Amino acid sequence: MTVRRERERAGAARQGGSASTRTHTAELDRELAWLTRALEVRLHAHFADEPAELPPPPILQEAGSAYARTVADLRLDATERLVLVLALAPHLRPELLDVLFVQNKGLGRDFSEFGGWRGGNHKGFLPTGETAAFVAAGGDLDARVATLSMFRPEHPFASEDLVRLEAVGAYEPELGGALTVPADSVERLATGLRRKPNFSPDFPAKLLTTRLSWRDLVVPPETAAELEHIKAWVRHERRILDGWGLGRALKPGYRCLFYGPPGTGKTLTAALLGQELGLDVYRVDLSLIVSKYIGETEKNLGRVFDRAAHRDWLLFFDEADALFGKRTQTQSSNDRFANQEIAYLLQRVEDLPGVVILATNLKSNIDDAFARRFQSLVHFPMPDAEQRLSLWRGALGDKVRLGGDVRLEELAEQVELAGGGVINVVRHAAIAALNDGRELIAATDLMAGVAKEMRKQGRTL
Ligand SMILES: Nc1ncnc2c1ncn2[C@@H]1O[C@H](COP(=O)(O)OP(=O)(O)OP(=O)(O)O)[C@@H](O)[C@H]1O
Ligand SMILES: [Mg+2]
Repeated sequence: MTVRRERERAGAARQGGSASTRTHTAELDRELAWLTRALEVRLHAHFADEPAELPPPPILQEAGSAYARTVADLRLDATERLVLVLALAPHLRPELLDVLFVQNKGLGRDFSEFGGWRGGNHKGFLPTGETAAFVAAGGDLDARVATLSMFRPEHPFASEDLVRLEAVGAYEPELGGALTVPADSVERLATGLRRKPNFSPDFPAKLLTTRLSWRDLVVPPETAAELEHIKAWVRHERRILDGWGLGRALKPGYRCLFYGPPGTGKTLTAALLGQELGLDVYRVDLSLIVSKYIGETEKNLGRVFDRAAHRDWLLFFDEADALFGKRTQTQSSNDRFANQEIAYLLQRVEDLPGVVILATNLKSNIDDAFARRFQSLVHFPMPDAEQRLSLWRGALGDKVRLGGDVRLEELAEQVELAGGGVINVVRHAAIAALNDGRELIAATDLMAGVAKEMRKQGRTL
């Protein structure tokens, strides 16, 4: 079985792919009912000033439900389950939390100990970390401190991006932050379906796919060998790190730098590697990353890294030049921010237990300290004449009709274009031919395209 199919099977099982929606919601129904009872008990005890005896969690009945699987996989205890279902409540049964709107009559204001925040459109009570601490711990300081540990980065809530405690203003207690569950996690728990996250300022990465296949990739043998090495690492990583015990010395994951001129297939190769290995490839948009809101950027990128670490993704930083160029000595405030950002990124790249690929046009911009952190530097050179011929043939496919005057061998021999340039010429030639009422591409169409492409690249034939 291929790695890809094996992963898909495991993925379907993990997601409880075969279970009906009812299976998932029935489980959540019982869990929400439990939260309702626990809230009643907690509030009663709070106002009576008595110790609370919270009801035990329901026995999970649907082994195939996404919720039951999550609880089992992450080994969540009763208190963690309570916090999880509390965070889910506004999405699934918002009225359940209305009891927390009760006012402190003595003071004529909200109860500090219930936490909570108000949304823009949502009419219900939105929980904060404080609400979680209240429900889970009440006035027990020891239990309250234990609640805090659920929001540490090493806790599965964070690493699985399941429950987040959002940031608060400077100097405010962190439990004041909103308790949230990202939309894709809500959907997964409620339906068993794992949606691919959408690109947004909150999640500055995009799924990268291609309709080409590995056979279409034209690279020299040295490049191909490096790429095989990456594939082999993914296939054998567990064996090497665990089976052979090399995990003590070797870091998990694999970091590579793709370098070479524009249009030589770096982005394409990242997409193809994902396709071959059955991994989703997420491309990080660096234009969104370089922002003056440094804290925001780190948080948002941090999310991409967190998710990548636990969801079998291949992370691809395209056009990495901007960020991974030489770290400057100058100390304008912008540079300092940039350096801080780079240091943060380098650390995250180094710590990521998956495959990370960075692509750049300029290898010389990458400093040594940076290069040392890579397991491989893969060169994508300009193609030679023979490779260019394969590129022309590949780009034209077998359906396109060519005029009798077209000599692809000559074209490949004489015109130094990379794959990206070839694609552009073919597009231009196809438009020109059809626009001229012809069903076949003539040599002149191709030559006009070549001239245009050369001009675009600031070159002459
Ligand atoms: N080596 C190649 N083999 C096959 N097709 C290629 C190759 N290089 C480029 N192409 C074609 O050109 C298109 C553009 O290439 P791609 O975007 O991967 O280049 P790149 O190296 O990432 O360029 P840039 O540095 O500008 O980002 C590809 O989608 C593919 O159709
Ligand atoms: Mg590219």
